[in-house]
Amino acid sequence: MTEGGYATLMDEAENERMHLMTFIEIAQPNWFERGLVIFVQGFFYNAYFLLYLIAPGVAHRVVGYFEEEAYTSYTNYLELIDSGAHANVPAPQIAKNYWKLPADATLRDVVLAVREDEAGHRDVNHGFANELHGGGAPRHATS
Ligand SMILES: [Fe+2]
Ligand SMILES: [Fe+2]
Repeated sequence: MTEGGYATLMDEAENERMHLMTFIEIAQPNWFERGLVIFVQGFFYNAYFLLYLIAPGVAHRVVGYFEEEAYTSYTNYLELIDSGAHANVPAPQIAKNYWKLPADATLRDVVLAVREDEAGHRDVNHGFANELHGGGAPRHATS
């Protein structure tokens, strides 16, 4: 992997951290839910690390599909907001700062911004998978 590749993945990690911080504000998970996430992450981290050692191209391909799934999930989330099933609450300040949203931004604006990020991650990871499988240079998303 190139120097630029590492920088791209570090940017992606920081971007995902902001998704996490934003949705912690919105969902206010309890300690049981937080514990569950830590437990599942502990498992996933090790399994993914192993996969990356064995087959890095496959690992990026897997993330590419996860990101596609995330995009679909946020589309479903938007439908819930638009149908009124989920309240379109004001955007948390942390999200307004990060995505430079207007003062009156709502959850819908946040979900649209996050979904765009996921589309970028999907393209980046499928690009790295293609590169590692000898299919040419990755397509770097601009967002
Ligand atoms: Fe995300
Ligand atoms: Fe993502």
